[in-house]
Amino acid sequence: MKTQPQTSHISVLMVCLGNICRSPTAEAVLRAQVNAAGLGDYITVDSAGTSDWHMGEAPDVRSMQAATTRLYDLSSQRSRQILSLDFEEFDYILAMDKQNLRDLCAHCPIDHQHKIELLLSYGNTGWTEVPDPYNTGTEGFELVLDLVEVACSAFLTHLIEKHNLPRQQYKHS
Ligand code: 4NP
Repeated sequence: MKTQPQTSHISVLMVCLGNICRSPTAEAVLRAQVNAAGLGDYITVDSAGTSDWHMGEAPDVRSMQAATTRLYDLSSQRSRQILSLDFEEFDYILAMDKQNLRDLCAHCPIDHQHKIELLLSYGNTGWTEVPDPYNTGTEGFELVLDLVEVACSAFLTHLIEKHNLPRQQYKHS
């Protein structure tokens, strides 16, 4: 992979259908990994839904509970629908499933289509989509976290390499 000059700022938008389960989880997981890598000044993360069904609502309590056990906090997030401006403003737009991807591509101007990818195109999970957990039990929400953690970690490694971001400096005493 070709390394580019260091990018000053990178913005990432996670997208699912309702923006109350999968994309808020992906937002929180990637942000936690970014902060743990000391890259909070370089990478910002947001999320949105393709639908307006849950506009203004907090994430699903089942997503919040599953996330809390792994020390991610979703409580301050509120659902919003993707805006036309998002296609211009975000550098990466990562869809949770293929229907989200199709809906995004249908609304995205041609100049920005290259920004849209499936989140699970990163990481070797063996899955291509993050399954919708809305009508499942707790195992569905745990699966979302399992897949999202692996994919976000691989995506962050990709960003660090592609944009020549600083790597974590470990201090030895
Ligand atoms: P999400 O999950 O797209 O991961 O936020 C869903 C949330 C709500 C609905 C479907 C999926 N719903 O049908 O209301």
